[in-house]
Order: sequence, then C-alpha cells, then structure tokens
Amino acid sequence: MSVLQGKKVLLGITAGIAAYKTATLVRSFIKSGAEVKVVMTPTAKDFVTPLTLSTLSKNPVNSTFYEKEEENELWNNHVELGLWADYMVIAPATANTLSKMTNGVCNNLLLATYLSAKCPVYFAPAMDLDMYIHPSTKKSLDALQSYGNVMIPATSGELASGLVGEGRMAEPEDIVAFIEKDITSKLPLRGKKILLTAGPTYEAIDPVRFIGNHSSGKMGFAIANAAANLGAEVFLISGPSNQQIKHPLVHRIDVVSADDMYDAAHTYFNTVDVAILSAAVADYKPKNVAHQKIKKKDSSLQIELAPTKDILASLGAIKEKQFLVGFALETNNELENAKGKLKRKNLDAIVLNSLQDKGAGFATDTNKITIIDKDLTEKSFELKTKVEVAKDIINEIVKKINA
Ligand code: CTP
Repeated sequence: MSVLQGKKVLLGITAGIAAYKTATLVRSFIKSGAEVKVVMTPTAKDFVTPLTLSTLSKNPVNSTFYEKEEENELWNNHVELGLWADYMVIAPATANTLSKMTNGVCNNLLLATYLSAKCPVYFAPAMDLDMYIHPSTKKSLDALQSYGNVMIPATSGELASGLVGEGRMAEPEDIVAFIEKDITSKLPLRGKKILLTAGPTYEAIDPVRFIGNHSSGKMGFAIANAAANLGAEVFLISGPSNQQIKHPLVHRIDVVSADDMYDAAHTYFNTVDVAILSAAVADYKPKNVAHQKIKKKDSSLQIELAPTKDILASLGAIKEKQFLVGFALETNNELENAKGKLKRKNLDAIVLNSLQDKGAGFATDTNKITIIDKDLTEKSFELKTKVEVAKDIINEIVKKINA
C-alpha cells in the first residue's frame, strides 16, 4: 500500500512543455490512492487543458482568483486549497515560477496557494539546460530548499529545444516514487516495532460455550492502522473480532483466550519498542473446562471461576526499554482508578475511557479519552471517531518516546 493512500495531493502546474506529462502524473497519484486537485498558472493551459485534468482528477481545476459564473463572480479560495492539501507538488516548476516562489511573489492563484500551504511542498524543475544551470536558477533552487521545500531533481536527456542536457522534468512515475520514498523516510515511527492487543477474549466453559464480552476490537484495530501509517511494524494480537485490517506493516496474530493472548504478548514483547494493551481481557476464566457439552439439568449450575493472568501487569514487571501503554475502562472514580492502574502495573501511560461519557466505550464508533502519563499529567480529548482517537493516541506516544 502506498503512503499516499487516502492523502490529498494538490498538483500545481506551470507553463513548461513538460506540462503535457501531468495528465499521466495525475493518473499516477490516483493509482497510488491519493485524491488529486489541480491548480495551474493561466499560461499552463496552453500546454495541457483543464478539461483533461479535471476529468482525470475528478475535481475542478482552478487557475484564476475568481471565476465568472453567469452574473456571479466566484472567488477561488487559495487559503482553503492550501490547507486542504496534505502535500503540494509543483510540476513542472519553471524558472519563472521558482524565482517568484523564492521571493514570495503571488500574482497568480498557484503562487498564492503555495504561500498559504502549510503542508510539505515538492517541486520538479523543468527547463532548458542553460536556464537550469544559470546562477539565478541555482539561487532559487537553493533558497526554496532552505525554506523546507523538497526538490525532485531534473534529469538529463533530450530537451524540447533539441539540446541534450540536464533540465528534463522527472518522469511522472519517478515523481510519485520519489515522493513516496521521501514521505516514508520521514515517518516518525519508521523502524519502530509495536505490540498491540485488541478485542475480547473468550474463556471456554465447555466445547461450545464461553465467557466473553462486547469488545469489538475497533479501537485496537484503528490504533494498529494509525501506527502502521506512521511507519511502525505492528504485531496485532487480536481476540475473536470481525474487524479486518490490510496493511503491509501489520502482522495479525489471532488468539482466543486470555492465556493465548498472554503467551503471544510474551513472545513478541522482547523485540518491540512500544506495547499498547487495548484488549478487553477476561479477568476470570472457568476453573475447569468441561470436555463434553454440559447437559441441561433442573437444578442451578455453578461454574467456579479462577483469575486470568494480568498480561499488562506481567509486561510491566519485566519491561526494560519498552514504552508500555495500558487502557482503563471505568465507571466511577475514573481518574483515581486509572492512576492506580498506571502505578500498579508500572506503565508509561494509560488511556482512560469513562463509561459515564456518552459515546465512549465498547459498542460505539466513537470514543472519548484522557491520556495520563507516568508523571500523572492528564490530557483530555474531545469525543471523536475511534479512527481519530487512534491517531491522537499514536501522536501522543510519538511525542513521548521522542521527548
Ligand atoms: N489487562 C490485561 N490482562 C488482563 C486484564 C487486563 O492485559 N488479564 C489490561 C487491559 O488490556 C487494559 C488494562 O489491563 O489495558 C486494564 O484493564 P482493566 O480490566 O480495566 O483493569 P483491571 O486491572 O482488570 O481492573 P478492574 O477490572 O478491576 O477495573
């Protein structure tokens, strides 16, 4: 899966002959799973038509600050466009545009959008060889990189002038590959390994019955995805759950009971940097599991329960360099109970969900959390979807392990 999957790419096209290749570039971004919007300089339209680009990107193409629609004039909001983008890519980037970008000139929509963009900006220069090596161009390229923009270097070959040399825009597939590689190399959890437990556990009573709980696994799976999206290799130990996950960096290990989960967690713990235990592990299991199906009788049935092993506490007892995160689902005295668990289980942080908060807990798509760290500092978050909550949890962990 590409790191561009689900990302918003704003492609800025300027007036160079290589603009004809941007139709393929839009397709390549879309193939990698990105959503694409195009902003072009007015003269870039002489090289490639907005109709081609809007058809391929399935989004309107903007090139002017406002548009006449019947009697109304519609303002194209460059700030909104700049903020919409996860990545801005200016390709081809002409000597003229590069020089204007360097100096903060914004006399067209593309330049104003560039100045407004807060996201990473890539630019792929394209021009004739003498223009490319001119000191003023060199100055622009150096200045733009010093501002934090990333250059996708021009390549050598035959140029539109007939001359042969450096100045050709990188090929569309190479531009996408360059950006994917650059993003991957900067992911904050790249090279880190994370152990995650998720879902419920089922404790067998007999061959057909068990004691379980309503945990869906949604929260844990969302955390696995959020961590993998930031480059971590994730070992997701899941109890019985219908959740699906397809990410090349996530290894799913299916287990059933608390004992299975304990064994799997201990198998991976030594090799990981972070362990997040979000599973709703059964606290008790039947002391004896019947080998045959228990038959119905008229008298009442008693099942003696024995405590399961506390996986989180057992990892807290042996942890060395690992950053260990637990979860606490509480109904009363929430903060006090969560802080107690944090200390008792030797954790680096605990994620508290209170069942008193509407929309928090097991069966919902939303959650409301407070993260408490080792120093008992609390950080509360709004009610959000579990996907957003997962990102918050992972971002907090990234901050703490890099602190
Ligand atoms: N946990 C675990 N193994 C268990 C029980 C719980 O790893 N056998 C982990 C959970 O995954 C969670 C944390 O411990 O990260 C808190 O679980 P919780 O059930 O809230 O805490 P308990 O210590 O079991 O306390 P109580 O049920 O009394 O609130």
